This record gives sequence, C-alpha cells and structure tokens, in this order.
Amino acid sequence: MIKVEAIKDGPLKVDADCTITHADGREETRPNTTFFCRCGASGNKPFCDGQHKKINFQG
Ligand code: FES
Repeated sequence: MIKVEAIKDGPLKVDADCTITHADGREETRPNTTFFCRCGASGNKPFCDGQHKKINFQG
C-alpha cells in the first residue's frame, strides 16, 4: 500500500518509490519518499522546494 499524506500548510508526501512523468514527457524515478508541491510556488515543480514557508501557504 502506498502512503500519501497532505502535510498541513505544506507539500504532499508520498512514501513510495515514484516514477514521475514530467510535462515535457521526461521520466524521473525517485526512491523512498517524495514531496510534491501543493502551494504552487515551488521553483522546482512538481516537487516541493520549501517555498510554501516563504509564502505562508495555508491548506
Ligand atoms: S508545497 Fe512546498 S513549495 Fe509548494
């Protein structure tokens, strides 16, 4: 079972090996745990880069 957690005021945490297909079709594999941006402010989408703290994201 894959565990997915929406962290309060932060990213979506996925506890699993992930293969991500980017918008340009490129594929990337991330092991173990990946944090995906929920706030829209990341400079490294679809991943969280910590910007949610600077914009005081709530959700
Ligand atoms: S949730 Fe962390 S940068 Fe958007």
